[in-house]
Amino acid sequence: MHGFVDALPKAELHIHIEGSFEPELMFGIARRNEISLPYADVDALRRAYAFTRLQDFLDLYYQGMSVLHTEQDFYDLAIAYFEKAASQNLRYAEVFFDPQGHTSRGVAFSTVIGGLTRAIADAELRFDLRAKLILCFLRHLDEADAERTLDEALPYREKFVGIGLDSSEIGFPPSKFRNVFRRARDEGFKIVCHAGEEGPPEYVWEALDILGADRIDHGNSALQDMDLVRRLAADKMPLTVCPLSNYRLCGVPELKVHPAKRMLDLGLFVTINSDDPAYFGGYVGDNFKAIAEHLPLSADELRMMARNGFLAGFMDDDDRARCL
Ligand code: ADE
Ligand code: ZN
Repeated sequence: MHGFVDALPKAELHIHIEGSFEPELMFGIARRNEISLPYADVDALRRAYAFTRLQDFLDLYYQGMSVLHTEQDFYDLAIAYFEKAASQNLRYAEVFFDPQGHTSRGVAFSTVIGGLTRAIADAELRFDLRAKLILCFLRHLDEADAERTLDEALPYREKFVGIGLDSSEIGFPPSKFRNVFRRARDEGFKIVCHAGEEGPPEYVWEALDILGADRIDHGNSALQDMDLVRRLAADKMPLTVCPLSNYRLCGVPELKVHPAKRMLDLGLFVTINSDDPAYFGGYVGDNFKAIAEHLPLSADELRMMARNGFLAGFMDDDDRARCL
């Protein structure tokens, strides 16, 4: 099975670049920037990665990214992700980044996007891996902050393909961001939205009907609402499912009850992704192996989910043919 998964060409559509920050690199960059982390060493930091819910993780995620300051820091972060993911046969990635996590600390938007786009260009040459960026708004901040971020980003509009919504979910419904997403859509961006990771099915409805989402990130709680399942299936709405993330954030008690198989049986459009691989113990290939091991999935189902990643990507058919 491992050989079969290794050989599958993969795409991933749900990876937060700041969530690919491995502790070794984090300590290295912190040292370079003369910043001290509140952990004695890499092992002590890894031991802190014991989460019971999304917010436990987010607290460490924002702390970790705070050592990133220079264009080179963002380049080093992204190229390390591309190298590791390419070793698991990743051919295409749509990579989330959280500009507000950086601009709020005084790092210029141009520094962030400069480092990330330089890494994308090198990844194509070095690893034959194509990637695009998706800018995410932080939903625990207000809509005015997201509006300012979109203003700041528009001069760089050629450098990203979509706009997403992430961070703490419960209490921060998609509808809170209806105006800024309307503007993003009018500007021609694709729309994605974290919904139904911890939040209720109503947030998935809002992502579809109010934000006009082209894909749903996670979508797990949709299974509690059969009308929503029928809607998602009828629309062939891609769900970017993240098995190891769901397990490590206690969304599922064990991988053998992960909903990926049930989603497929209900006719949903499932893709498999790593979310925050440095924090959740696995890159995209590791996520495929985890579900292949713990769920009764056939080779055809695994192949289909891998192919779905390419089909649901924001690329044209020529691009798709080059990746596959
Ligand atoms: N930001 C990074 N990872 C996230 C996740 N799994 N859910 C919401 N926001 C995030
Ligand atoms: Zn995510």
